[in-house]
Amino acid sequence: MKRILVTGALGQIGSELVVKLRSIYGEENVLSTDIRKPNEINGPFEVLDVMDSKRMYELAKQFGADTFIHLAALLSATAEKNPQFAWHLNMGGLVNALEVSKELNLQFFTPSSIGAFGPSTPKDNTPQDTLQRPTTMYGVNKVAGELLSDYYFNRFGVDTRGVRFPGLISYVTPPGGGTTDYAVEIYYKAIEEGKYTSYIAKGTYMDMMYMPDALQAIVDLMEADPSKLKHRNAFNISAMSFEPSQIAGEISKHIPTFEIDYKIDPVRQAIADSWPNSIDSSAAVEEWGFKVEYDLEKMTVDMLDKLSGELKKRG
Ligand code: SER
Repeated sequence: MKRILVTGALGQIGSELVVKLRSIYGEENVLSTDIRKPNEINGPFEVLDVMDSKRMYELAKQFGADTFIHLAALLSATAEKNPQFAWHLNMGGLVNALEVSKELNLQFFTPSSIGAFGPSTPKDNTPQDTLQRPTTMYGVNKVAGELLSDYYFNRFGVDTRGVRFPGLISYVTPPGGGTTDYAVEIYYKAIEEGKYTSYIAKGTYMDMMYMPDALQAIVDLMEADPSKLKHRNAFNISAMSFEPSQIAGEISKHIPTFEIDYKIDPVRQAIADSWPNSIDSSAAVEEWGFKVEYDLEKMTVDMLDKLSGELKKRG
């Protein structure tokens, strides 16, 4: 990776990934793009609607990109609200990005998700290669995306790579419209109000990861020796698996008066119930040395500390 174009760069992953990539590869070597302009522009930025394939191609060509990181997509709960639009944006944007990567011979990354699994997938220690019959539009998009990315590698030789991200937790940019978002909101509410009402039921396990580990995984996979990759799209990766009362318990160690109660959102609960409890990351460990630094305990210390600082700054 030397000249990198990122779509969806103002989103949950993109806003931190761009900063990390610029610190490694140089500010001028990372072109940040999104459908809207940021409040403050730092470094190369262009407005790009991923449905506009012509502009996407031109921007990548003018920039002299050698790498394409495609992040623009709707998350699971938002996609359920407007499935047709989700299909249009998630798949249309992806095909455009793969075509541009094929035409310009770019290395390509796009994230898949634990959402690519469904109710018939083995729930515990979910294998890398297993049944994938998701019941959400987001999941359908993710499975199709994994297959398409494999197709572009096998058919056209595009160097496509991807991971199945679990819920991502960060104090910088909030996620929007995901099922795992409760695990981010809970920290905001713990600091601001000392209590949280969870829309996910007690006992619902899902995989999660702290953002610094997720960003490092993207860099490590993209830098990995291709001859070692048996899989490409997409590797299971996870840092921890917990359910709402466990994260609440961890927060209580630092905010002893913190309380959690529950008001279940049936749509997001059904999505969560269709996903694994925990996935097996061993293929990623074996093929490109995937590793994490943060477990629930360490993440909670860092999240509460950094988020308190952020919230004070934001007033
Ligand atoms: N965090 C995502 C979601 O909940 C999962 O990929 O939609």
